[in-house]
Amino acid sequence: MQMQGLNMHGSANGSSRGGAATSEPWHVGVLFSRTGFMSVIEETQLRGTLIAIEEINDAGGINGRPIVPIIYDPGSDVRSYGQYAKRLMVENGVYTIFGCYTSASRKAVLPVVERLNGLLWYPTLYEGFEFSPNVLYTGATPNQNSVQLCKMLMEQFGTRFYFVGSDYVYPRESNRVMRELIQGNGGTVVGERYLKLEAERSEFAPVLRDIREVQPDVIFSTVVGESTTFLYQTYHDFGLNPKCLPIASLTTTEAEIRAMGFDVGEGHYTAASYFQGVQTEGNSRFVSRYRERYGEDEPTNMCLEASYFQVNLFARALERTNSLETSLLRNSVMGAEFDAPQGAVSINPLWGHADVWARIGRVNRQGQFDIVYQSPSNVKADPYLVSHG
Ligand code: ACM
Repeated sequence: MQMQGLNMHGSANGSSRGGAATSEPWHVGVLFSRTGFMSVIEETQLRGTLIAIEEINDAGGINGRPIVPIIYDPGSDVRSYGQYAKRLMVENGVYTIFGCYTSASRKAVLPVVERLNGLLWYPTLYEGFEFSPNVLYTGATPNQNSVQLCKMLMEQFGTRFYFVGSDYVYPRESNRVMRELIQGNGGTVVGERYLKLEAERSEFAPVLRDIREVQPDVIFSTVVGESTTFLYQTYHDFGLNPKCLPIASLTTTEAEIRAMGFDVGEGHYTAASYFQGVQTEGNSRFVSRYRERYGEDEPTNMCLEASYFQVNLFARALERTNSLETSLLRNSVMGAEFDAPQGAVSINPLWGHADVWARIGRVNRQGQFDIVYQSPSNVKADPYLVSHG
């Protein structure tokens, strides 16, 4: 656990929620795991959050007041996210929270923010089919990644899919959606396996043996965290060829590719709103600043980018409200736009989800994604797949 920015009473309460003329900081909560099996990606989300806060503070803060984060490390333990969210609100008096990668951790925080009227800003792609007045969703949902990925895979590789995922809500629900898309296009799911979130490398060998036996056209992976590395490494050990049988994913980013080794990741596909290689001026600046701050070899990724742009959307809303009251902030951010590194994004006022870009990338030998598909503009959020019924 790490904490910053508390006053001497150990509370960030008081003027932070109100709008009186003051130079008191705006306290916000941050919940990403820096330790445990989710740290590969969540550490980058923490960095994306902090780099945005730093930039805003360097430019004078919001209405003359700096943003100060109170940071807890839930240690990749799902229940801890809910407990720290409660602590942030009840003990620290902080109701604006940036955090969570897994849908399991978001679902642990959800009843807490709903009960105490906090506002969770959630910067991760997820399975959709959720709405809460206390959550803003800035990652992609299936109409912004699965639909495009399914179409490309069926056109280029074939109709027989094998699902392998971590065993929790996102993979099972994401696969439910993917199965419907595949079957709706005349394809089949020829295998489906789930491994525990903390699965070891040795646990992937039986899955790869089954895949070799069943001979699908595509492996659709919803494995997350450290075990992503183990899936791809085991695939590589089995000598399979991504040109004939790629692994396709919604979650494998530049961060996981770096962890598994560029040669191991090469040739596989991910659908994402953002890749480091996106050609926008804003992205060149973003990547340069990130490298200056964290090192030349450190890649950016979609979860880091969403963490970054959501803090900017928050800051602009706060400028208007001059208050951290949940309902004021939420109303203010509805329909708001921001020129993010991925391109223009907005918060869809119907759903409280972000309208983000749809892209598909293939990993190259440098650990980057060559972009093989890009939507013509950002894609309206449709978390309940109303337009795909
Ligand atoms: C996820 O659990 N939403 C990737």
